[in-house]
Amino acid sequence: MKTFSIAIDGPAGAGKSTIAKKLANLLQCIYIDTGAMYRSVGYYCLTNGIALEDEQAVSAALAHIEITLKHTSEGQRIFLNGEDVSEKIRTAEGSAAASKVATYGQVRAAMVERQQEMAKSTSIIMDGRDIGTVVLPFATLKIFLTASVEERAMRRFKEYQEKGMSCDLEALKSEISLRDKQDSEREISPLKKADDAIELDTTHMQIDEIVENIKALLEERL
Ligand code: DC
Repeated sequence: MKTFSIAIDGPAGAGKSTIAKKLANLLQCIYIDTGAMYRSVGYYCLTNGIALEDEQAVSAALAHIEITLKHTSEGQRIFLNGEDVSEKIRTAEGSAAASKVATYGQVRAAMVERQQEMAKSTSIIMDGRDIGTVVLPFATLKIFLTASVEERAMRRFKEYQEKGMSCDLEALKSEISLRDKQDSEREISPLKKADDAIELDTTHMQIDEIVENIKALLEERL
């Protein structure tokens, strides 16, 4: 198969990472979860007393943040200054912190540069909010996943329950709505469908069905 890149964007809980991971296994390529990178920056700020509202301080912190992605058979692991933070970044507080630091221009520029570097010369699936619009504007295939807020909150609810984390469905719904608003209304690289992206509403679709759909679309493109 020729080298390819797939950009998957969409709001929180639309199924991006589950679908991207399955596709990467099927297509034998690297998967990069760019949200984890913004989460790591947010987590660094939370654990080092850096106020998330202080754009200058958050931007200055970038010099002390080294993010490394390792690809294992169980998927991507993310290391922040050598520490595996793959699970620690996945709290409600971590989601809100990621969404906040992701509004800052210097944070985005640093992350985009790393992401573009990683996508060079290898087949890749990347998910996030600005992959089709900014990070990989020439991606072989661009997918924009959506689902109703209710469905997305329910998916997160089940995910947290499976991990034994306490959660409240209504609180998840408002957290997701708030993040949708912040991610799509920010000035720099807001969450938006690229003009040439294919939109898939996953509300009533099965994961395997979507994965097969995307695989067929890629084969058409190649
Ligand atoms: O995909 P996620 O829910 O783990 O992302 C966490 C936050 O990071 C999300 O609310 C917005 C931000 N983000 C972004 O701005 N751009 C990306 N490419 C990925 C994530």
